Amino acid sequence: MKATGGSDEEKRAAGESAAEAVEDGMVVGLGTGSTAAHAIRAIGRAVDSGLDVRGVPTSFQSRELAREVGIPLASLDAVDGVDLAIDGADQFSGPHLVKGGGAAHAREKIVDAAADRLVVVADPSKAADRLDHPIPLEVLPDARTTATAAVRALGGAPALRRAERKDGPVVTDNGNLVLDCEFGGVARPAELAADLAAIPGAVEHGLFVGMADEVHVGREDGVDVRRF
Ligand code: A5P
Repeated sequence: MKATGGSDEEKRAAGESAAEAVEDGMVVGLGTGSTAAHAIRAIGRAVDSGLDVRGVPTSFQSRELAREVGIPLASLDAVDGVDLAIDGADQFSGPHLVKGGGAAHAREKIVDAAADRLVVVADPSKAADRLDHPIPLEVLPDARTTATAAVRALGGAPALRRAERKDGPVVTDNGNLVLDCEFGGVARPAELAADLAAIPGAVEHGLFVGMADEVHVGREDGVDVRRF
């Protein structure tokens, strides 16, 4: 799993705090990344103690971990709705997020948007006054060149995400490529989100505009809960 930002203690505090929101009978969206993994493990322990939930994974990684810790799984089309989703973020500013550091943002957005309540788990390094993290854009392989040009036309600097232990690009769980698009500070996230979504061949971008209902920010000595 990729390592990011804060300490494992901070991530654990955030993940375990969010897992406390899970109640008997819920359908829970299971997010991706090192912070959401702490929530998944905590839910697994609660399942061991008798909690009755079904998890909807947002990635290969979250599915694998959920299976390992014994959370019963369901796909999104097999449930009537998602009560709660718990997911990480690469950066947050109020309820706005940048996601996709693990290239899972397309499935994350589907599940998180379907949830009645999205609880984001983060360490303090993810907080920003204004979003300025590069925005991941998942594109169909055939759209690589044209989408790269389209991002440049929007004023961004796109870079094809390269794999670390494989030659060539990162290939998403959906078989697509990722362009990490540097825009500097994002003054109007909703506008940029609409522009990125309109690029032909764009599958999904990592801007989650206004989507968080709560952000649990883990610290070494506690958790700050921000509600929106
Ligand atoms: C996955 O694609 C991302 O959206 C993750 O949720 C995000 O990168 C957070 O991961 P960490 O908790 O590992 O920082």
